[in-house]
Amino acid sequence: MRRPIPESEARRLLGGGPVTLVTTSWHGKSNVMPAAYVTPLSFEPPLIGVAISPTRHSYDMIRYSEQFALNIPGRRLLHHVQYLGSVSGSDVDKFELTKLPTFKAQRVDAPLIEGCIAYIECGLADTLRTGDHVLFVGQVMAASANAEAFDETWLLEDDDEKPLHYLGVNRYALLGEIIEARMPKPEETEKSLEEAFEEEQALAKEEEEKRREMEQKRAREGPQAEE
Ligand SMILES: Cc1cc2nc3c(=O)[nH]c(=O)nc-3n(C[C@H](O)[C@H](O)[C@H](O)COP(=O)(O)O)c2cc1C
Repeated sequence: MRRPIPESEARRLLGGGPVTLVTTSWHGKSNVMPAAYVTPLSFEPPLIGVAISPTRHSYDMIRYSEQFALNIPGRRLLHHVQYLGSVSGSDVDKFELTKLPTFKAQRVDAPLIEGCIAYIECGLADTLRTGDHVLFVGQVMAASANAEAFDETWLLEDDDEKPLHYLGVNRYALLGEIIEARMPKPEETEKSLEEAFEEEQALAKEEEEKRREMEQKRAREGPQAEE
């Protein structure tokens, strides 16, 4: 059975993108916030978008510094991710509070978080207002990933080396295993179309039989109900 989803919750159906920890630095102060609204935007130049609400401290940090880094955490940082999304850098120094160790990035001032499985350093290329968020378009200036985690694509061999996916609320997931697609052979597509059609016909026949049975039952019980 399918149930309707409120318009405001439809975004959750697209939940599952890899979570990032956005690090920023401005005037000697650094900050970090989790962001799940992250997407590739262009091959050449390599552009990546991250949608951030103007209510976040990180929004100002990116606007002023015109740089940011995306740190991709694995499950070892699960609880830190949730916590870092519950406090604001405008109230607390999250690096001081969590004692998360960091190291210097190659091309941006924002620190990189040790223990993450991949990193992308970006210079701010553009901004676009999208409803109550702003899409920061970052041009990739450097990127790196753990060799056990990524080789052309995510490898998904070791659960500790898989990116975290955010489903919403406090729920996260890890991807299972890689399944490789191949082009179906012509007879396979024909067969599956045929099968689908046959299934549909069988279902329609079943429905029709049920309907007829109900009608017959009603016809039989009708006079009894009047007695
Ligand atoms: C897993 C997760 C993903 C989040 N994704 C986003 C996001 O994509 N954009 C956004 O504006 N806020 C997002 N948030 C909320 C911010 O991380 C949160 O408001 C944070 O406290 C802001 O920190 P700041 O004020 O120090 O920048 C997310 C929170 C969590 C826990």
